[in-house]
Amino acid sequence: MKKGIIIQGSSRSEGDTSKIVDLLRKQTGFDIVDLNRKKIKHFDYNFNNRDDDFTDLFKNIVTNYKIIVFVTPIYWYSMSGLMKVFFDRISDFLKLDKDYGRKLRGMKMASVSSSNDNRFYEGFEMPFKNSADYLGMEYKGHLHAWILNDTIPEEVKNKINEFASNKLIND
Ligand SMILES: Cc1cc2nc3c(=O)[nH]c(=O)nc-3n(C[C@H](O)[C@H](O)[C@H](O)COP(=O)(O)O)c2cc1C
Repeated sequence: MKKGIIIQGSSRSEGDTSKIVDLLRKQTGFDIVDLNRKKIKHFDYNFNNRDDDFTDLFKNIVTNYKIIVFVTPIYWYSMSGLMKVFFDRISDFLKLDKDYGRKLRGMKMASVSSSNDNRFYEGFEMPFKNSADYLGMEYKGHLHAWILNDTIPEEVKNKINEFASNKLIND
């Protein structure tokens, strides 16, 4: 049976976002991809970037998983640049290799943001939700999590546990 994949979009592999990702992994048993350890070039209208890691990564995700959980730090009120490039590159599979692009239909998506306080910005979630709708994916919702003094506060741990069981696994 297919499970989920967590896509970590931080510019440091072992920073705040990775702590959230580790707890999510423990709660769900999902696999992890760290975009910071992949070589993924920007979108190119001429597709002169097909020699990087994106093509194999995308094919693996749409073939072997049923839910994608995007976990990103908040950088300048938005998802990280690494994660935005991942979204831009999905366009490759809407123009070339469309059979793989179509596999997103019916898959599920959720999003998680991380920062150092509980402040959350209106509109942050929109690109995830609208992209899921556009791609024919079922959007499961968003969770904002935060790290204080290098640890996940109890309140946030509870939110993550609840989100994992209600939105990511028991569904
Ligand atoms: C380039 C950059 C931009 C940031 N912009 C914001 C922001 O707009 N709002 C916010 O609350 N925190 C912002 N932060 C703080 C990060 O969201 C926060 O430190 C987060 O926990 C970092 O996660 P990481 O260790 O995985 O990168 C920013 C941090 C960086 C490095």
